[in-house]
Amino acid sequence: MKALVLAGGKGTRLRPLTHTSAKQLVPVANKPVLYYGLEALRDAGITSVGIIIGDTGQEVRDAVGDGSRFGLEVTYIPQDAPLGLAHCVLIAKEFLAEEPFVMYLGDNFLVGGISDLVDAFRRADHDAQILLTRVAEPQFYGVAELGSGGEIIRLEEKPEHPRSDLAIVGVYIFSPAIHDAVKAITPSARGELEITDAITWLIDNGFRVHSHMVSGYWKDTGRLQDILECNRIVLEQVEPEVNGSVDGLSEVTGRVIIEQGAVVENSVLRGPIVVGANTKITSAYLGPFTSIGSDCVVANAEIEYSIVLDGSSVVGVSRLARSLIGRNVEVTSAAGTPNTHELMVGDHSKIKVRA
Ligand code: TTP
Repeated sequence: MKALVLAGGKGTRLRPLTHTSAKQLVPVANKPVLYYGLEALRDAGITSVGIIIGDTGQEVRDAVGDGSRFGLEVTYIPQDAPLGLAHCVLIAKEFLAEEPFVMYLGDNFLVGGISDLVDAFRRADHDAQILLTRVAEPQFYGVAELGSGGEIIRLEEKPEHPRSDLAIVGVYIFSPAIHDAVKAITPSARGELEITDAITWLIDNGFRVHSHMVSGYWKDTGRLQDILECNRIVLEQVEPEVNGSVDGLSEVTGRVIIEQGAVVENSVLRGPIVVGANTKITSAYLGPFTSIGSDCVVANAEIEYSIVLDGSSVVGVSRLARSLIGRNVEVTSAAGTPNTHELMVGDHSKIKVRA
């Protein structure tokens, strides 16, 4: 069995980060979300992986390389424009050949791996296996409507009026029958070749499409609140480890990882937290579910339930929460100018300040 990992796309919901960076490389507990998927594929016994890349292809290539450090053999498949999930299958035909494959959306996060799902597909005689999970806002997802016997009646992509709360999880397994399906369908109203239409084509043409409820935690990390939630889930399970230095004036409690070369002085860290390599935390409070990247500075500041990427500084600011700070960003206090906020922010940024 092979795998097709989708790491192209527009990433509009994560602008401005995605203006400069691949959303699949946004770190969760200081590790790119894409790596969790690649590890899950390897753990399921898959070695041959095709990765679809778009505008941010070079960054993905730099991060994943030939895949050998994950125990994988990676082939990159450039996509000229993000024309849909089924379009990704269309352009990967040569790579996938006549083998069944797992299609894994590179920004999806599934706790518990996929080994059971791959084993179930190998044992059964299905042409497609999809995963479903109940969600609060089905209108943002591919949605499945099931019949009384659990069979799939209908699949709809981001429906305005969802007929169920069963969202399609971004990990699918297909037999080569999917190649005929993606050739047969036409673009949807939003101009994309939809995988939901391709699966509907399989059903309509008598192929066996099986659905499974996901037992573990799943998130599509395409939105800020979902990345923060993923970060929380992963941090809740990390093993504490201090490889940097913590002075006697600091208080570190709970699951806290302090990476090599990081320095914590006169600060309170209430885990779960990860502090990246060579980062300096001084006279600061870090609260639960916070990931600080490498080479950052946090001084005279308070941060919780947030992610700060490499090379950024947060100085003299309290308190940041529910925030995602990009790379090499400076957040400082506007000293000497009471009641003003001084901003220089990129296009499509979102800033919430206390009134
Ligand atoms: P989506 O999150 O559905 O699409 P998107 O990346 O365009 O994001 P947004 O809705 O915020 O604009 O894509 C799911 C995954 O599949 C994601 O990892 C990107 C990838 N993808 C491709 O590689 N090619 C494509 O044509 C599309 C639509 C998505």
